[in-house]
Amino acid sequence: MKYTLISSSKAKTQELGAFLAPRFRAGDVVLLKGDLGAGKTTLTAGVAKALHVEDDVISPTFNILKCYFKGTLPLYHIDAYRLENQNIELGLDEYIEGDGVCFIEWPQFIAPLLPDEYLSITLTNKGDDKREITLEGNNAHFDAIVNDVKGAF
Ligand SMILES: Nc1ncnc2c1ncn2[C@@H]1O[C@H](COP(=O)(O)OP(=O)(O)O)[C@@H](O)[C@H]1O
Ligand SMILES: [Mg+2]
Repeated sequence: MKYTLISSSKAKTQELGAFLAPRFRAGDVVLLKGDLGAGKTTLTAGVAKALHVEDDVISPTFNILKCYFKGTLPLYHIDAYRLENQNIELGLDEYIEGDGVCFIEWPQFIAPLLPDEYLSITLTNKGDDKREITLEGNNAHFDAIVNDVKGAF
């Protein structure tokens, strides 16, 4: 199932993250697609906040993996931006479909490590603070999450 919404502010995108947060379970993988500045890290920060992670989520462009264990569910945040054409045998697979929820920015750069089932979120900058956000699940669990979003946003 697929659903597209428009976020009109950074706060709204974080609100979407907060709405999604309690719906995840261990092993879930979320692929974040979109250009630089589209809002991928902002959305992840909204998830972290709702999971009661205390540290601020900053863009992990220079850290490929950030782990947040203080929340109700471990949150793993991978930014694969710097892995284009690199050796990706870094042990990241331990965090993908691991004991927490894993958000992945630039998933196309670690394609061989991606599972078959995931929630895909594509963000597009529509100018100023407007972002088009498309959610698409490819199993019943993720479809249910997308359906919840459809009812609320
Ligand atoms: N509706 C919106 N949703 C998300 N971010 C927004 C929005 N409007 C403006 N912004 C700004 O766009 C930028 C998004 O940056 P970031 O989340 O780091 O993007 P990415 O991780 O996709 O490169 C931030 O500076 C944020 O304040
Ligand atoms: Mg980012």
